Amino acid sequence: MGLVGAGFVGPHHVDAVRRLGYVDIVAVAGSNEASGQQKAQTLGAKRGYGNYLALIDDPEVQVVHNATPNYLHYEVTSAALAKGKHVVSDKPLAMTAAESRKLVDEARRAGVVTAVTFNYRGNPLVQHARSAIARGDIGTPYFIHGYYLQDWLLKDTDYSWRLDPERGGASSALGDIGSHWCDLAQHMTDLTITHVLGDTATVIPTRKKPRGSREAFQTERVGQTDDVAITVEDLASVLVRFDNGAKGSFSVGQVCGGHKNDLVIEVCGSNASVAWRQEHQNELWFGHRDRANEILQKDPSLIDADARPYAHLPGGHQEAWADAFSNLMRDIYGCIAAGKPYRPLPPTVATFEDGYRANAIVEAVLASARLGGVWTEVAR
Ligand SMILES: NC(=O)c1ccc[n+]([C@@H]2O[C@H](COP(=O)([O-])OP(=O)(O)OC[C@H]3O[C@@H](n4cnc5c(N)ncnc54)[C@H](O)[C@@H]3O)[C@@H](O)[C@H]2O)c1
Repeated sequence: MGLVGAGFVGPHHVDAVRRLGYVDIVAVAGSNEASGQQKAQTLGAKRGYGNYLALIDDPEVQVVHNATPNYLHYEVTSAALAKGKHVVSDKPLAMTAAESRKLVDEARRAGVVTAVTFNYRGNPLVQHARSAIARGDIGTPYFIHGYYLQDWLLKDTDYSWRLDPERGGASSALGDIGSHWCDLAQHMTDLTITHVLGDTATVIPTRKKPRGSREAFQTERVGQTDDVAITVEDLASVLVRFDNGAKGSFSVGQVCGGHKNDLVIEVCGSNASVAWRQEHQNELWFGHRDRANEILQKDPSLIDADARPYAHLPGGHQEAWADAFSNLMRDIYGCIAAGKPYRPLPPTVATFEDGYRANAIVEAVLASARLGGVWTEVAR
């Protein structure tokens, strides 16, 4: 494994891969020589590089993990594919749907294993819910709703590259966390979002940007700042339609006090409902009309056989974000180790096509909002 971009999430890629036990952490590339060396040392990688091309050229690196800021996703992934390396890209796959489309084609030509880390798929109770829905336990899904709220951008002194369209893309909240919600809604139900109607807002239109760089979720006060105008949304509400005729709605916000990483998804079907909340991820709620509602605890002896491989501890022993992330790596590296070509991948693994789809949904929501909120078809 070689990691490009060791800020907030990059080290979690290393941790998850290291847990597999059969993968060497060969190298880390940083934005310059000193940071590459220092991060390689901290993460226990054999080598540190000052630029990603050197890492990609390293013959010992077979799998490139791209955890750079969004604006580098296309160029890093494209360069890795050109050298025939497997690629694990963090989301979003690229800054735009057009760029992601190109990566889909480049990946197909390269014939390697490629994946996007829509990591909530790796949670055992998400897998249980997916099996239950597929089996018809809740009947036909007709309403899929929820939210993904965070508060780390609540103050005007909070700043991130995610707010700069040149580095984060045309969207902040929708691209960063709305993409996770949409991917999860589609994954759990096996449905596709076809149309959206969006309403977006920039709650904090001017922020104090620190002079000098900082990594995501870094909260300590910094010295000098510049006032900058923010053009991307930090809040949005979206109506959605699915390909089976189901309706849905979700809200995203990075400015919602008290909500840390609060992803909630509920699927209402013709018989019952099922709901999962990331911050209480060891519980799955089933809602019934004619009998008492149920809470299923994450317990390998109680969950579906399909979901059981994603739970590693007995009931009552909490599993969490990093465990789900690690489950994803197990599925991805399982394909790489088995020498499987471009397809097939286990359903937990979001493909580059799924990454493209996520970009297309965000772009459709932004287009809808720009027009004042009109139903907009998601590009295929
Ligand atoms: N799957 C998830 O749940 C999840 C969570 C967080 C972030 N992410 C995604 O991961 C990516 C990184 O986000 P983050 O929160 O870790 O950001 P971050 O700012 O904390 O980290 C980015 C790192 O990339 C490094 N970097 C910048 N330019 C580089 C270059 N040219 N070569 C090598 N490294 C370079 C930076 O120095 C920094 O260490 C984003 O695309 C984000 O959307 C996904």
